[in-house]
Amino acid sequence: TAADILKELEEKCATPTAKLRQISDAMSVEMHAGLASEGGSKLKMLISYVDNLPTGEEQGVFYALDLGGTNFRVLRVQLTGKSAIECQEFAEVSIPPQLMVGTAQALFDYIALELAKFVADESEKFQLLAGRQRELGFTFSFPVMQLSIDSGTLIRWTKGFSIQEMVGKDVVAELAASMKRQGVNMRVSALVNDTVGTLAGGRYGNKDVNIAVILGTGSNAAYVERAQAIPKWHGPHPKSGEMVINMEWGNFRSSHLPITEYDTALDAESLYPGEQIFEKMISGMYLGDVLRRVLLRMAEEANLFGETVPPKLKTQFILRTPEMSAMHHDKSPDLNVVGSKLKDILDISETNLSTRKIVVEVCNVMATRGARLAAAGILGILKKTGRDSLRDGEIPQTAIAMDGGLYEHYTEYRHCVENTLYELLGDEVGKHVKLVLSNDGSGIGAALLAASHSQYI
Ligand code: BG6
Ligand code: GLC
Repeated sequence: TAADILKELEEKCATPTAKLRQISDAMSVEMHAGLASEGGSKLKMLISYVDNLPTGEEQGVFYALDLGGTNFRVLRVQLTGKSAIECQEFAEVSIPPQLMVGTAQALFDYIALELAKFVADESEKFQLLAGRQRELGFTFSFPVMQLSIDSGTLIRWTKGFSIQEMVGKDVVAELAASMKRQGVNMRVSALVNDTVGTLAGGRYGNKDVNIAVILGTGSNAAYVERAQAIPKWHGPHPKSGEMVINMEWGNFRSSHLPITEYDTALDAESLYPGEQIFEKMISGMYLGDVLRRVLLRMAEEANLFGETVPPKLKTQFILRTPEMSAMHHDKSPDLNVVGSKLKDILDISETNLSTRKIVVEVCNVMATRGARLAAAGILGILKKTGRDSLRDGEIPQTAIAMDGGLYEHYTEYRHCVENTLYELLGDEVGKHVKLVLSNDGSGIGAALLAASHSQYI
């Protein structure tokens, strides 16, 4: 019966504290390995070339492009020094799906065109000083091997993008070529991952921010590492003694992860089999599809939705995480939202209350597993950096800048990340660790990093 399948699912997805501790230990072991040598671990632990986070003194008008989340954004910020951001303006569009799997030129020309429109609309107020070129921070949320703060080659795509010819190419050069074609005269002065941008944006407002985590379409984390703890770094020793590391934790895997047959099938049918295993278990792009796979099995083996298996249930990615969240949060006595989502998305016209309850329960199992694993990942970073224990007789204050649609909008998921983290840390250490929502922090962070790497200073 469906109840049996549910019970089996609960068992396989269980994440008791002891297991989470093993996972966080494995995370910190992999962090060490990834920092030791290039290719030393599934965790790439990428060097960001950001060795100084914003101070608040930054001044001027700067731009940011943000590509890789659900939406593509262009933004402009005016920094007035003394931690003040005077004005922020946005343009936000979604990337047409065909551009995600088309050619490099089509994707980058599209972005550059949006940028051109944004600049063309600009009011007098923002005309820059005569003779000064506009400067841009580019948030590009994919694994990049940075060559400097303003250049880097794409290692591979994630999150549904797949443009093979781009792999190994310098993304800034590609953007610059498109800007030229679209007549935009701007200099890219910083290329950053969204986690690194979020860290920079978070630090600007809060000195305790040392870690940033994205829980959105994809998932990843960045943090401040001691330069001495990065054996694979052979560049000059940064004055600050620190370097921001983009972990690319989405690619983490461990034998301790509670992997089910649904995860294995999702992985096998994905654009990148064998890659981004952690991301596939915790992030917004995939949660809804794991849910779909469980419901499909319940329909096939236990007639969850009646005699016939709803054909739409066989379509990959038809159930998206926002819909899953809406069903999970349905508080109406007869679960109306669940009923209408099943009808609208999957063409399942009649469902009774017990069926709907099972659906909600599956949402709960999958979201809980994802959120608890994300919390274990965070604990791994705190362990690696010694922020979960006494340092010079004190427990350091740590603020973690959080962003991403999943964390922002999926309340049950967010609460579960928070509760699990504090459960793992215990009261004493937990008092010193804060999770702060840092929405859009990455765009602002990229603009700040463009400012601190401006050609005019
Ligand atoms: C946004 C950031 O707020 O969150 C992006 O500006 C980031 O840089 C994004 O990539 C992640 O969330 P999602 O849900 O859009 O993938
Ligand atoms: C994917 C990307 C990573 C990004 C994350 C969150 O994991 O590979 O670079 O930070 O998604 O957007």
